[in-house]
Amino acid sequence: KKRLFRCITRLWGLCLSAVSMKSDGTMRHLISLREQSREDLLAILQLARMLKAKRMAGQPSEYLSQKTLIMLFQKTSTRTRLSFETAMTELGGHAIFLDARTTQFALTDFKTEIQAIMRFGHLLVFRARRSADVAFAASCNRIPVIDACSEKYHPAQALGDVLTMLEYSGSIHRIKKVAWLGIENNVSNSLMLACVKLGISFVLVSPEVDPESVDRELTVEAEATGLVIRTLDMAYALHNADYVHTDTWMNMEFFEDGHVKEEWREEYERRKKVFQPFQLNAALIDAYAPHARIMHCMPCHVGYEITHDALYHPRSIIFDQAENRLHVQKAILAWLLCGY
Ligand code: CP
Repeated sequence: KKRLFRCITRLWGLCLSAVSMKSDGTMRHLISLREQSREDLLAILQLARMLKAKRMAGQPSEYLSQKTLIMLFQKTSTRTRLSFETAMTELGGHAIFLDARTTQFALTDFKTEIQAIMRFGHLLVFRARRSADVAFAASCNRIPVIDACSEKYHPAQALGDVLTMLEYSGSIHRIKKVAWLGIENNVSNSLMLACVKLGISFVLVSPEVDPESVDRELTVEAEATGLVIRTLDMAYALHNADYVHTDTWMNMEFFEDGHVKEEWREEYERRKKVFQPFQLNAALIDAYAPHARIMHCMPCHVGYEITHDALYHPRSIIFDQAENRLHVQKAILAWLLCGY
């Protein structure tokens, strides 16, 4: 009996590692989207649409039964935490949320502790202060790792955004032009790369880049497609845009308990002045892009990067965008672990 049990356990382990491996023998991760091909992105989007349809039809999708998702967060979250936890429940598995502040990370070396953490689950979702730490976790090739919004990337957000645009446009080929207003940052990095890999033109209307978010290799790869345009001419940028996105001009680190930390006060005030002309508001959309849909990854700082009249504009699809994090992340988890 013992031998049989060992044999079954070993076979299951081999099976699991085989399906989450790429053809070159390395494990699948979702970090910067540089690792994914156009076909990979399309496969995840197709799976997301199938899972969303099943959910709407009341059908179960318990593809990750008996699997555990470890969610390690070094920064605050509303949507990412909720959507990944719900995704894992609906896939028949279990998610464990770890607020890094309540763990032993402060007492020990990061690399040692993260290797121990990965022994307990089948997937790791990591909202890290430093993308280098996500890269280290992935380099261990123990379990698939997802960057859940580091200073450089937010791939699950980008895929949720593309899913939303796909639903509204009907097909990828009908999404011609996406405009990004405000600060160039982690979210715009991932959205830009996802868009250009799918053949969509991406226009950046950004007077500044968040210095922490710079990834030169990603930028070079995106710009090599010829689909990235940089301009500060709002009329040109928004002409014939299908979707207009924005994001907060401020970083999560600037805030504590809902207030701006004193050490970031000066930068906070400076950014408000620099980015004000690039605010997404109803007058701008009505004047330059009346057929575009309005998007924001949330949380919104209403009155700053977006106005109340843009958030609740008839062309706003911001709440559908938030919900789609759930559907696309179910697809990401299944794709990473099972290779669907
Ligand atoms: N868009 C996003 O990642 O939201 P949270 O920071 O609330 O997770």
